[in-house]
Amino acid sequence: MKRKLIAGNWKMNGGLVANEALVKALIAGMGTGTQAADVAVCVPAVYLASTQLWLGASAIQLGAQDVSQHASGAFTGEISGQMLKEFGVRHVLVGHSERRQYHAESDAVVSLKAKQALVCGITPIVCVGETLAEREAGKTEEVVKRQLAAVIHDNGHCISEIVVAYEPVWAIGTGKTASAEQAQQVHAVLRAQLKAATAHADRMRILYGGSMTAANAAHLLSQPDIDGGLVGGASLKSPDFLAILAACPC
Ligand code: PGA
Repeated sequence: MKRKLIAGNWKMNGGLVANEALVKALIAGMGTGTQAADVAVCVPAVYLASTQLWLGASAIQLGAQDVSQHASGAFTGEISGQMLKEFGVRHVLVGHSERRQYHAESDAVVSLKAKQALVCGITPIVCVGETLAEREAGKTEEVVKRQLAAVIHDNGHCISEIVVAYEPVWAIGTGKTASAEQAQQVHAVLRAQLKAATAHADRMRILYGGSMTAANAAHLLSQPDIDGGLVGGASLKSPDFLAILAACPC
């Protein structure tokens, strides 16, 4: 079976003291044994340096929440892929629905961000997902396919190096999880789209995100095309995040 990836998305939460305690609790909770899944935490950019130190040689991989579409230059406030790389960042979220919604990130911009990450040797976790209105209008497939198509189009043969995260917008932070069957249905659509683009689609990871908790993780993660989770709220409390990890089928 493909190894799952459980990635925490801390969003704009925490502070130095709380974050250090969280990382240390995760490391202690995971122990020294082999994990059933790969684990990452996507932290606010200002905490990358400290988190890198706290993580040390642990099995938890460092992730960021955004990357500039540009390599360098006069882009005040932006952070380049190369800068992230200097702090040992292995994964970066791109196109999270909160970035698409509050920062007007278009499919084209998301695609350029994914490209920058790949150029810098960082795995982009490309987020796609429909709003409630789009789902109710029967447009789920059309929306997620359009969002992923842009990234496939611009990233050619490197596409097999990305991770995709299906995050229905209506399930993020709302406590409303897509049922495992609803999520699997969309994951299968995304897998088919990847298969048309690369011979390596079967080994690519498609994560589910949106109110994943210890209570629903096992069912979601047992679906054939759900290869891990992108976890927001439940990643901020070590027992909850560790319980999701423990729910990963070995
Ligand atoms: P949630 O967030 O788990 O709090 O719903 C997921 C995400 O936005 O990545």
